Amino acid sequence: MAEALQQLILDTLDAQSSIKDSRILVLPGQKDPATSHEAQITVLGALNSLLSREMIKYETREVFTHVLTPEGASIAKEGSHEARVWSALPIKGQGIPVTPQQLKKLVGDETAKVGQGRAFKNGWIGKEGGGFVKMANTINDAAQLDLQEIESTGTLKTGEKTLADLRKRKLIIQKKGQWFTVNKGPEFSTSTAKPETDLTADMLTSGAWKTAKFKKYNFEAEGIPTNGGALHMLLKVREEIRNIFLEMGFAEMPTQSYVESGFWCFDALFVPQQHPARDLQDTFYISDPPHSLPPEPEYYKRVSTVHEHGAYSSTGYRAPWSHEESSKLLLRTHTTASSAHMLYKLAAKCRGEKVDGEKEDFTGTKSAADNGDGFKPAKLFSIDRVFRNETMDATHLAEFHQVEGVVADRNLTLSDLIGFMRVFFEKMGIEKVRFKPAYNPYTEPSLEIFAFHPMLNKWVEVGNSGMFRPEMLEPMGFPKDVRVHGWGLSLERPTMIRYGINNIRTLVGHKVPIENVENSPAVRF
Ligand code: PHE
Repeated sequence: MAEALQQLILDTLDAQSSIKDSRILVLPGQKDPATSHEAQITVLGALNSLLSREMIKYETREVFTHVLTPEGASIAKEGSHEARVWSALPIKGQGIPVTPQQLKKLVGDETAKVGQGRAFKNGWIGKEGGGFVKMANTINDAAQLDLQEIESTGTLKTGEKTLADLRKRKLIIQKKGQWFTVNKGPEFSTSTAKPETDLTADMLTSGAWKTAKFKKYNFEAEGIPTNGGALHMLLKVREEIRNIFLEMGFAEMPTQSYVESGFWCFDALFVPQQHPARDLQDTFYISDPPHSLPPEPEYYKRVSTVHEHGAYSSTGYRAPWSHEESSKLLLRTHTTASSAHMLYKLAAKCRGEKVDGEKEDFTGTKSAADNGDGFKPAKLFSIDRVFRNETMDATHLAEFHQVEGVVADRNLTLSDLIGFMRVFFEKMGIEKVRFKPAYNPYTEPSLEIFAFHPMLNKWVEVGNSGMFRPEMLEPMGFPKDVRVHGWGLSLERPTMIRYGINNIRTLVGHKVPIENVENSPAVRF
């Protein structure tokens, strides 16, 4: 239909050079000219399609047309009420007059009521005995004829006065309509062959491009969305948390070594060699190579001594020391292993080692109070991956990210730690925090951090913290008045809360819907 109509328009233009009124067209498959509103909408579709190829030009004209109401349509079909009344009656003197009650039954209440008066007024019917009879042998039902004319042409030749009357009687309504004058466009031709949309290699080799007709560019088109790179939700949250640390004056620790030794992951932190966290069920051990290179011998000796026999006013664990256990290679179970490396490095000057000042200054703190023992305060953080031999479920994976902050300075107290964490969590948008005494082998005292979750309406654990033990700090060489506190939390927990994700497998791993990554909004705490 669409193409046949386009062809009709082009052929008509070819024959007549212009179409002055699109209502003269007889659409394909129709008998009568396209005078109705609907027909002109169909014509408009074809015109627009030809216009986009510049084959034609057209102008829109507005007209008021009339359409029949349901009542108008029924009159056009079956006659006016008065005509229906008239037809139901016998001719005067030729039959039994019809009583008003009978008339109601014959034509219906409504028609009887409306039609009677008008039929009388027109002189079509009269009274005889107790009933009605026909006074005229034939009638001219003008209303029906007018409505039929309006139905097919949208208007009346006789003019506005009758139209106004029919409108008042709610038999027709006025509607805005349109029709078109059509002329040839610059690309006029009688062929409706579709223009090319692409210049192809085939067209270039065959030379078809020389004669091909190309569709014009549509610069208004929106185009398809392009696929750009997108940051994963965890990376967005990591960036926000990193910014919090940076604005609080922290320096980022290097955390690239996923593989650590038992010594750095546990022993240096005064985690007993028999501690259950070191079991195969909780820690992934490396089989090849199975053992690490030995740590610096003096430090190793101090660590093994504090474990086995005690030192620095500590009685130690008094359990036999296993070099085998200490040298095992494993995937780090917490980033505190990296913190231990950094703290050991921080204490280098205190141990009397020569340090290349500028190069080794990872503390970000140049104005440290140095009282001759070589100590410089430091605020360090890291956000990186850790591994635990966990049974996987909706909230646990065998690998996740830890956020960790460590502060080293003289005479720090537990209040300093609590104060730091309050500020830190507040910057993450967590205002209500609570602390609960806890146990870590490497910190004393230790605190678990709980935050009030307004959506869950309960307190949830968000982190772990504490003051590092002297058994850990003193073998590194820190002066006795140096305290180090630290706290750690997972990156996944706040990310899941932030993005309303309740299964960690839709956040990490092969089941992550790529649209989640592409469409996730930026995070601002
Ligand atoms: N390492 C602890 C954990 O894995 C977090 C922590 C870091 C605790 C620093 C105290 C101090 O949960």
